Amino acid sequence: MQFRDLKKQYQILKDDINKEVMRVMNDANFIMGKQVKDLEKELAEYVGVKHCLTCGNGTDALQLAAMALDIREGDAVFVPDFTFFASGEIVSLMGATPIFVDVDEATFNMSPESLEDVIKDVKASGKYNLKAIIAVDLFGLPANYPKIKEIAKKYDMYLIEDGAQGFGGEINGEKACSFGDISTTSFFPAKPLGCYGDGGAVFTNNDEWARLIDSYRVHGKGDNKYDNVRIGLNSRLDTIQAAVLSIKLKAFKEYEIKAVNDIANKYTNALSHIISTPHIPTGFMSSWAQYTLKLSSKKDRDNMQEALKAAGIPSMIYYPKPMHKQEAFEISTHYESCPVTDKLCDTVLSLPMYPYMEEKDIDAVVATIKSIL
Ligand SMILES: Cc1ncc(COP(=O)(O)O)c(C=O)c1O
Repeated sequence: MQFRDLKKQYQILKDDINKEVMRVMNDANFIMGKQVKDLEKELAEYVGVKHCLTCGNGTDALQLAAMALDIREGDAVFVPDFTFFASGEIVSLMGATPIFVDVDEATFNMSPESLEDVIKDVKASGKYNLKAIIAVDLFGLPANYPKIKEIAKKYDMYLIEDGAQGFGGEINGEKACSFGDISTTSFFPAKPLGCYGDGGAVFTNNDEWARLIDSYRVHGKGDNKYDNVRIGLNSRLDTIQAAVLSIKLKAFKEYEIKAVNDIANKYTNALSHIISTPHIPTGFMSSWAQYTLKLSSKKDRDNMQEALKAAGIPSMIYYPKPMHKQEAFEISTHYESCPVTDKLCDTVLSLPMYPYMEEKDIDAVVATIKSIL
């Protein structure tokens, strides 16, 4: 059994993907071809924002957002303690200070209560300029934007949505990657919408930030790429990746999002009475980048992973280490204690999940977990 079977998806979409990739090869428009512009238009329409700017990967997408918002030394940027390294990495890369905030145990996402407590402490310390909040849509579930937006407004801070794992999720019919002042996503192959290499995108309704990001992603270009008006990056989505994504986006919209939600419901219906399964708040929809269980102790979690492995079932620990314990942040960060994140790192376990997962595999995972417990 595969944790996320990308080969199966390719077999199903192969004819269309090959045709589109060959078209790029024949046209030889590898950089910023028409397919990139067409994809950006389609992504912006799907998400419901004015601008989509694709780029090299989800980490660059976050950095481009930070560059547009002029995040710099002396700025405090609030980041969940339970996330992938890149969410905080780009804050330090910009010379600013990531402040790690604990998460909500039920949703795995940034806790609005902890966020406001930490903001108050940091404000009282007078050490930093309160600049931005980076909320992460962990495992596919949008963060609590109704509350986080209120807090951002109250303290006059920018809100960045790190939707690397969240593309396709919703809150009351509104799509992920539309909740931040600037939102970002990743098209890393294993993400809900993945390409065949690295890729990413930035979303915003703000014309000025879109203009800046368009410049920053091509060496700070001015009127043309040999007129450079600011220091930028070389971060574009390859036309071949845009061609792959144009086919995958169709499948994603038409049936993949529904398929992962059906699989999640099957897992939850079969397992929720014996183990802690993911909680989706009313009105929210996840794109199920991961389906993550919580066990009662590290020993139970590690035993469960071993027993699943012995039965031929892959599982993953996202994430084994809180951000505040990452050595790379030792000098650049400031954090309060994050007991919920500490506990989750010891007790979470993600199960196989992808839109083409067969009934017999879902049944095997469920039966094995039941027998282990
Ligand atoms: C929450 C989060 N943010 C950012 C990223 C960075 O995306 P990429 O790997 O495309 O740079 C990832 C990817 O793993 C992620 O999960």
